[in-house]
Amino acid sequence: MPAGRRTIAVIGAGNVGATCAFALAERKLGNIVMLDIFEGFAKGKALDMSQAGQILNYDGVITGTSSYEDIAGADVVVVTSGFPRQPGMTREDLISKNAGIISEVGNGIREYAPDSIVIVVTNPLDLMTYHMWKTTGFPAERVVGQAGILDSARMTHFIAEAVGVSNEDVQAMVLGGHGDTMVPLPRYTTVSGIPITQLLDDETIRSIGERTAGGGGEIVKLLERGSAFYAPGSAAAIMAEAVLEDRKRLLPCSAYLNGEYGMNDVYIGVPVVLGKNGVERIVELDLEDSELESLQASGSFYKTQLTDVLNYGA
Ligand code: APR
Repeated sequence: MPAGRRTIAVIGAGNVGATCAFALAERKLGNIVMLDIFEGFAKGKALDMSQAGQILNYDGVITGTSSYEDIAGADVVVVTSGFPRQPGMTREDLISKNAGIISEVGNGIREYAPDSIVIVVTNPLDLMTYHMWKTTGFPAERVVGQAGILDSARMTHFIAEAVGVSNEDVQAMVLGGHGDTMVPLPRYTTVSGIPITQLLDDETIRSIGERTAGGGGEIVKLLERGSAFYAPGSAAAIMAEAVLEDRKRLLPCSAYLNGEYGMNDVYIGVPVVLGKNGVERIVELDLEDSELESLQASGSFYKTQLTDVLNYGA
């Protein structure tokens, strides 16, 4: 690797991992190493992506591997390895299959990229992020989950369509777990600063919230094999960029709570400031009782799963 460039490792060279790597390459953020248990898959995609560099005007070294030694010294590790949903499955149905993969990957990261910031994308997101935190033993601010950016982007897209404006002008906020219990927050959602409550009626806002919460499932049903990857992969790349460039972006992410929002020892989607140290701050919004109750209900759902299914704190 040429000296001076940052290294980003992407674990899992499947749909989400390759999309993330491609978005990172296009943003010229550093050298990229894709790691997959199927070595040829990672190597082949890396070669293909390297060749696209001439066409899309990016350079840097993009490599594929199945060996953790090759992620040595990575600044950021994006974890996408694991099974995606099939029609009829909830994200939680993936726990037993994906927890073993996260254990294996977490051990590799701990050994070869001990100073990295880890961004988890594997589902069920909030549970796998907690499991990654425990496996690596890293400080909680260095392990963060991707979900809120994706969920907010989904809500943003539906609002932009309903209002008839550019995606760029909509700012949406979705907190809570990345699943059926997610909490869209219309009060914190605006179009160029205008509250959406002034632009859309209550019924439209309610149905957009519902469609957002089922947004991943809608795509799983359409695809019939596998789950969404363009938006999830891009969202992970934006989080990596925030860390690598120390952008201090305020984004909803799955973060470890230690008293914030009245919850403890759980990962859940909340607004955070993301910079070179990872989660540099958790932002506590002034929520109405019903909003806080929904967020806490989402947190306690995942806390129960951590105990009952992953045997944490049992
Ligand atoms: N180590 C490394 N890579 C692995 C491992 C492992 N132990 N186990 C599986 N993989 C790889 C697979 O070989 C595959 O290439 O992870 C990749 C997953 O890619 P896809 O099957 O295309 O799944 P994708 O759509 O990318 O979703 C990955 O992200 O959004 C979540 O729910 C989604 O949990 C799923 C994950």
